[in-house]
Amino acid sequence: MTSRDIESRADCERLVRSFYGRALEDPIIGFLFVDVAKLDLEAHVPRITSFWETILLGAQSYGGGAFRPHALLHQKVPLRRAHFDRWLTLWTETVDELFAGERAELAKAHATRVAAAFHQRLQGFEPEAAPGGVVVVTRRRP
Ligand code: HEM
Ligand code: HEM
Repeated sequence: MTSRDIESRADCERLVRSFYGRALEDPIIGFLFVDVAKLDLEAHVPRITSFWETILLGAQSYGGGAFRPHALLHQKVPLRRAHFDRWLTLWTETVDELFAGERAELAKAHATRVAAAFHQRLQGFEPEAAPGGVVVVTRRRP
């Protein structure tokens, strides 16, 4: 592969669109975007592009508050480690297919940190899991 590094907002957008091309059709996490969140991709792409532009290119175009939509999603369908692992696998594959370099590495590393942090924070208002993996639906308020 003769890939170059992530250099511009257009590169961030290409990465994001390519990722969602896979994520929305994915057998493990696709339904979370399509059926549960009913994601409006055209509204979402500029925000998530700004998120990555801020992290990778220092743009300060993202206003923050990334955790909240995941907490809302988690209220509807509990987000498990397996969902985050799948998200990270698709993200890593997409980054590696399109780009190579320091920023590409940072894109993968930061996603791994954020996924771990989100998963950790969601444990704070986790539905009780009974022994044997049966989920009892009693929810604490966030
Ligand atoms: C150039 C350096 C960095 C930039 C510009 C950056 C940027 C950001 C941004 C914009 C967010 C989203 C914040 C929000 O939505 O409120 C975020 C989240 C996060 N970052 Fe970074 N980051 C950087 C370096 C790091 C480093 C070095 C670490 C850890 C070693 C890290 C760990 C995290 C974690 C754990 C979160 C998720 C926090 C949460 O639970 O909401 N970041 N970062
Ligand atoms: C199980 C894994 C994940 C699922 C199912 C998921 C799903 C979603 C959904 C449904 C939204 C809301 C879209 C909308 O309606 O506007 C969203 C927003 C977002 N997600 Fe995720 N996500 C996951 C993991 C992550 C990770 C690991 C990151 C960061 C590395 C991330 C970053 C973001 C950001 C920045 C937003 C935009 C928040 C805003 O509007 O400012 N997500 N995600």
